[in-house]
Amino acid sequence: MYRNSYALVNKNSLKDNIREIKEKYPDYEYYFGVVKNNCYHHGIGAVEALLAGGINYLCVSSLDEGMQIREKYSSIPILVLEPIDSQYISVAIENKITITVDALDFVKELVSMMLKDKLLIHIKLDTGMNRLGFKDKNALEEAYSLLKENKHIVVEGIYTHFATSGRGDIFYERQLKCLEDLLSVIPYEEIPIRHFDRSITFVSHKKITFANGIRLGIMMYGFNESVRVNTRGLKNYLRKVRRNMLLKKGLIHEYTTENNLQLNTAYSLYSSIISVRPVKVGEFVGYNASYQVLDDGYIATIQIGYADGVTKEFGIVVIDGEYYPIVADTMDMIMIFSKKSLKVGSLVEIIGPNRSVRDVARALGTNSYHLFTRITSRVPIIYEELENEKE
Ligand SMILES: Cc1ncc(COP(=O)(O)O)c(C=O)c1O
Repeated sequence: MYRNSYALVNKNSLKDNIREIKEKYPDYEYYFGVVKNNCYHHGIGAVEALLAGGINYLCVSSLDEGMQIREKYSSIPILVLEPIDSQYISVAIENKITITVDALDFVKELVSMMLKDKLLIHIKLDTGMNRLGFKDKNALEEAYSLLKENKHIVVEGIYTHFATSGRGDIFYERQLKCLEDLLSVIPYEEIPIRHFDRSITFVSHKKITFANGIRLGIMMYGFNESVRVNTRGLKNYLRKVRRNMLLKKGLIHEYTTENNLQLNTAYSLYSSIISVRPVKVGEFVGYNASYQVLDDGYIATIQIGYADGVTKEFGIVVIDGEYYPIVADTMDMIMIFSKKSLKVGSLVEIIGPNRSVRDVARALGTNSYHLFTRITSRVPIIYEELENEKE
């Protein structure tokens, strides 16, 4: 790493987050870690910490992502959440990667393939998202019996992904009913792994009897999904009044608002100053003279830019505990304004203890999921390694 711009990921925080979640939600056998998109941009190195914390199944979006993890981890079960092209079934089999089966046509294709080795599959049900999965009971019934008849196909799991969390909407009940309805046509209890949904859903509702597994994404990375309606302040009071009113009118489903999970984010993003120059009021900065200096001072250039995913819209950066506005961005560098001179080589916090992922996401008018997908693979990831545990 020769360029001084990098993401720093603390493996201990990730491990502790999983332990905390498992301690507070102990009623599951399977804790799936969703590690797609390079572990939400925490890098494949994060997998070690997630496993150390107690994740016992991984979810990826594609076979490519699955293979990347399989190269490093030979035995952890991996589920591909998207359907794969049938021409790559042998790759899944050879690498012991579990696939998602989401449609009757795909099942017919699978059973006609004369498989010679064991293929692990999870059936996906559509409970209202209208993206993937069985939504027709007859198709599900037929698919299930075809799968069960085939001695090389192992129906190891079944799952669904809700379109809404039921917080602020009435769809939760509807989705549950839809799930029950679909499950009524197959002996689903004989399927060993029955998993469900995502961080916000399982912390917002009591455990559903169907599930012996939960899929954890954003929470593992330290983002709690609790809504603090019971804290003080006018905004919270009004939120509580509104919620009670909607509940009374039956317009939202009862849900848990708060959880006492203590989670820590593990991700920081740093760069450094590579140039500092004095500027006078009225001078212009950046391409297209996009910023006009309002006061005499200094422009510091930082070696991270929009090719790394960092733009002017990030708003501010932190240097030695002080905040500075980003006034211009280019492909590889951003510029900040300072009243006092800054030092070349100074560490610049773009995301970190003083400027959280949530702060930056808010500045961008987005959320933490989107922010993580914005940071590009050009940014190297370095790790704070797991500490040895005392006996
Ligand atoms: C099918 C599926 N399950 C679980 C998750 C994890 O969601 P979250 O990060 O909200 O916990 C995702 C994330 O996109 C997903 O696509």
